Amino acid sequence: MTKRWMEIRKAADPELRDIVSMWKRNIKTANTAYDIVTLYRYFKNYFLVATCTDTGNNTGTNSDIIGFVAGAVRDGHGHISGIAVDKEFRRNGVGMQLLKAVDATFLAEGYDRVTLEVRISNMEAIKFYEDHGYKSLFTIKGYYADGEDAIVYEVKNATHKART
Ligand SMILES: CC(C)(COP(=O)(O)OP(=O)(O)OC[C@H]1O[C@@H](n2cnc3c(N)ncnc32)[C@H](O)[C@@H]1OP(=O)(O)O)[C@@H](O)C(=O)NCCC(=O)NCCS
Repeated sequence: MTKRWMEIRKAADPELRDIVSMWKRNIKTANTAYDIVTLYRYFKNYFLVATCTDTGNNTGTNSDIIGFVAGAVRDGHGHISGIAVDKEFRRNGVGMQLLKAVDATFLAEGYDRVTLEVRISNMEAIKFYEDHGYKSLFTIKGYYADGEDAIVYEVKNATHKART
């Protein structure tokens, strides 16, 4: 019988290649691999991965990255530079656990405010952030390389909606 379990943990250096490819696969971005690697070098403490482990009788144990969150510190507060869960694993609470874990890491490091930008057309992510207590602050016209506007969101972790 195959058993599966999910774990959220800090990313390890050899996993950076997988994170870059997952970022590019799931997020509409102009970020290059170099940009992502540079972020990781500075902020690896805030790069977390979700892994799914299959344990089969004959096949041994196999662990795959199914999601990541890339945090950073910007202007004295926490910032989420990217978060994604591979399509087949979405709507199972993986994104929620990644978001909670990185927010807890920020809080542990003394950053109780976290911001992020999201494309104005990305309704799934907007719903996801709002359902987790993020509040929209303002819009930045033409923020993205293709001219799309961004909405800036923030959460104050002291009031972060706790979900189990
Ligand atoms: C945003 C994203 C990370 C959410 O990951 P996820 O694992 O599916 O999220 P969860 O299962 O933890 O969702 C938690 C809650 O968020 C909301 N939510 C998440 N995806 C949603 C969707 N597609 N539509 C409506 N609500 C959604 C729901 O309230 C959901 O709870 P529910 O499933 O009990 O209704 C994922 O959709 C994704 O990778 N999107 C592509 C990348 C992206 O746009 N990233 C953000 C910009 S950087």
